[in-house]
Amino acid sequence: MTSQIIPVDPFDCVVFGGSGDLAERKLLPALYQRERAGQISNPTRIIGASRSEMSHEDYRAFARKAIEEHVKAEEVDAQVLDTFIARLSYITVDAKSDNGWQELKAFIDEAPATLRAFYLAVSPSLFGDIANRIQSTGLITDETRIIVEKPIGRDLASAKVLNDTIGSVFREDQIFRIDHYLGKETVQNLMALRFANALYEPLWNSAHIDHVQITVAETVGLEGRAGYYDTAGALRDMVQNHMLQLLCLVAMEPPSSMDATAVHDEKVKVLRSLAPITEANCEEVTVRGQYRAGASAGGPVKGYLDDLGAESSNAETFVAIKAEIENWRWAGVPFYMRTGKRLAARVSEIVVTFKQIPHSIFGDEAGRVMANQLVIRLQPDEGVKQWLMIKDPGPGGMRLRHVPLDMSFAASFNERNPDAYERLLTDVVRGNQTLFMRRDEVEAAWQWVDPILQGWNNSGQQVQGYTAGTWGPSASIALIERDGRTWHDSL
Ligand code: BG6
Repeated sequence: MTSQIIPVDPFDCVVFGGSGDLAERKLLPALYQRERAGQISNPTRIIGASRSEMSHEDYRAFARKAIEEHVKAEEVDAQVLDTFIARLSYITVDAKSDNGWQELKAFIDEAPATLRAFYLAVSPSLFGDIANRIQSTGLITDETRIIVEKPIGRDLASAKVLNDTIGSVFREDQIFRIDHYLGKETVQNLMALRFANALYEPLWNSAHIDHVQITVAETVGLEGRAGYYDTAGALRDMVQNHMLQLLCLVAMEPPSSMDATAVHDEKVKVLRSLAPITEANCEEVTVRGQYRAGASAGGPVKGYLDDLGAESSNAETFVAIKAEIENWRWAGVPFYMRTGKRLAARVSEIVVTFKQIPHSIFGDEAGRVMANQLVIRLQPDEGVKQWLMIKDPGPGGMRLRHVPLDMSFAASFNERNPDAYERLLTDVVRGNQTLFMRRDEVEAAWQWVDPILQGWNNSGQQVQGYTAGTWGPSASIALIERDGRTWHDSL
């Protein structure tokens, strides 16, 4: 089966931070892949912009290297790569002064009819300066979009300031706030599974679901981002955005369509229904961890403090939370979330555990009747498994076995799994906001996260050590076992 590729209109994409890490690892490879798929139309131009002095040729060499390093060798086609590289230019622009802005304008105005996208792959502290200069330089047309990356603030107040600043220059429908988890194939599949099948929706509530688990486990450590990470921690870095977005997609009411407003409205309702976690209960329903030296990804690794080069730090590299949604559909159904660095495996998955059958007719010799589980695996090995009880084949009485109906996407579709940025970048060009975050979503997420941060602070809740290469502190196991449940075995 092959997917249908619909080319997008020609566009100019200016990447601020164009020679940075995100551009190198994600944006340029993603745009190259869309070129390879035949989705980019002429005369699309991609313009790297940053403070560093670079010629067009330097930038093209940088991009070529980025693609050769970050795209699989068998997917690098020399001819396509040449076509793609020819689209690239570079302009030295300083966010904090007038330097370079007129040059950028002159360059963009060579093709004034084209749709414009400004990608801010820079520190949020520069969002305001760049947005204002885009405006004062006269670069905004009706067909202009701005794309911002997280972190959008470090609490509700700072998120509001950022949103106000960008919002004073761009209309909300021009602002694309990226949460790259929403561009992952399986995350979109979660919506297909829920709303394109009649099977699950009638069961998707507290009458039939016992609990939900969301795990985003990483084996990597700080990856050269110690400065940012130590001031953020896992709650801000992963929960406020990616984890809560996943929770919203699991928990939201069916939107009336895939229209962005309809989907955003439903997600906001979920965020606003989350039971507050405050100083009064944070020790009971949250666990903070920090990795110590151990073994991860096949070798010995240092502890967090050594990675950081500091004597002490109270930043959490792991967090587990028992969240509750206070509405009719979900009251009484815990949503357990856990995420961390230097864990036992790189795995992201959502596990929906249905209720036990009310009564077993099979007797003890049949073995334990396990609850049905729906496991949605985001990465790696994307796919969905529906765990069911069946009869063990063969004679010898009725013995039961828990087996998965296994739909592994790689095996079923025999296609490469596009990176989230590929989908999201083309959605920006199409003007489709469904897989982006609206302002009130970001703020509602902070509204829930802020009291947790304050609770930790006021109660002095410390990080608990865990050995790198494990599943986090033992308190995380205790958090779920206290309720008579266990974390799903993700290996
Ligand atoms: C980023 C976080 O948003 O997501 C990183 O800042 C994290 O700390 C990354 O490693 C995980 O993304 P993915 O796509 O590799 O699961």
